[in-house]
This record gives sequence, structure tokens and C-alpha cells, in this order.
Amino acid sequence: MEKEELQAIASQLKHPTGEKGIEMANMMHETNINMTRHSVQNLNIKAGNSILELGHGNAGHVELIFEQAENLKYYGLEMSELMFQEARQINRNFVSQKQAFFSLYDGNAVPFQDAFFDKMFTVNTIYFWQEPEKLLSEIYRVLKPNGVFCITFAEESFMKQLPFTKFEFELYSTEKVEQLVQKTAFKILYKETLTEKVKTKTGELVDRDFTTIVLEK
Ligand SMILES: C[S@@+](CC[C@H](N)C(=O)[O-])C[C@H]1O[C@@H](n2cnc3c(N)ncnc32)[C@H](O)[C@@H]1O
Repeated sequence: MEKEELQAIASQLKHPTGEKGIEMANMMHETNINMTRHSVQNLNIKAGNSILELGHGNAGHVELIFEQAENLKYYGLEMSELMFQEARQINRNFVSQKQAFFSLYDGNAVPFQDAFFDKMFTVNTIYFWQEPEKLLSEIYRVLKPNGVFCITFAEESFMKQLPFTKFEFELYSTEKVEQLVQKTAFKILYKETLTEKVKTKTGELVDRDFTTIVLEK
């Protein structure tokens, strides 16, 4: 593949836009649903929880969150206007019932008051964080005391084999995320690395290692 094509794939994954962005988001939803499921399972969601997700993509998985317990509120934050619109459309019933709320933000300042959320999670976004330590301190600020944040990401050892990750991506191993977290006030509660089969763009099945790290305020 040409350098320009690889660069275009990386840009779409970082910030989906236009017709191609919708296709890319559908593909991401299918390929990443297992990672999202693991992130959500590790949140240990209880009735009445308020939950914030960073970088939900098309948010086709939100119904899965409402299956976890009664009386939940889901909030989604995105940087892509297209994903914000897609997520509102796909989840229009939850939006009109005031169970799901979607907003755009700048990727740095989390637009909520202190100690607002019980649980937070993010899947496949850490590669694109502009100022990781500052964003983690924002996440810490908006979590309630003892609130939990799950970061789920594909391991650097797998990601570096994908030619487009040379562009736009900052890759992370578990150790690198742990080193980052140690600079913040978060405690690491638990971590798990799993291997799953995923289809590549050329249709072959490959093993993907992904990790969820569970942090507590
Ligand atoms: C690779 S996609 C992952 C989408 C979905 N979470 C998944 O795993 O399929 C990354 C998404 O995160 C968004 N994004 C990128 N940087 C972000 C940031 N700093 N905070 C929140 N969302 C971000 C992008 O707009 C994009 O929709």
C-alpha cells in the first residue's frame, strides 16, 4: 500500500470524517466489540451508576451497557463531529429517554464537574491522546472517590505489525501504560491481557493481544 493510503487509514482511525468515516466506524465496531465488552465487564456496573466513555466511535455498543444494570446514565465524549452525530442517531431512543448523552470535546478538558461519574472507560483511544498525563488528571477529577476507570488497548507488540500505525499513533505496552499511571494519583486495581482472533483488511485471521487496566481513584 502507498504511504498516502496508510496515512489516510491512520487519520480515519484517529478522527473519522465523511463517507469513509462512516464505513470505518462500522468496521471498528465489528472488529473491536470484544475489547469493548471486556472493558465494560471490568467496570462492574451497578444500578444507578453514571458512566462516561471517551471515544465511543459510532457507539453501536451502548445497548450492551444498559443490559448491565437498571437505572444507568451513559455519557459519551468524542472529538469527531461525525461520530457524535452517528452515535446520537444509532442511540436516538436512549437519547430521547434521557438515558444517553453525547457531547464533543477538545480531547484535553473533560467538560463535566468534579466527582460526577461512578465509572469511566475508553477503548482504542490512548494511541491518540495529545497530553496523556493531563487527560488522566482530568479523568481523575471527574470521577467520584473510589470511582473506576478502565483503559483498554491493543498491545504495542501487535499494533506495530500494522503498517498504518507508523502514522498518527503512539503505541503502548502494558508497562508503558503502568509507567504513565504511576505519574498520576490513580491506583492500579487489576490488569488482564487476552488474545483474540481478528480479521485483517486482507481477510486473514491473526492473533491480537489486548489489555484492560483497571484504575481506582
Ligand atoms: C480507533 S477509534 C475507536 C472507537 C471505539 N472505541 C472502538 O474501539 O471501536 C478512536 C475513536 O476515538 C476518538 N478519539 C480520538 N482521540 C480521542 C480523545 N483524546 N478523546 C476521546 N476520543 C478520541 C476518535 O474520534 C475515534 O472515534
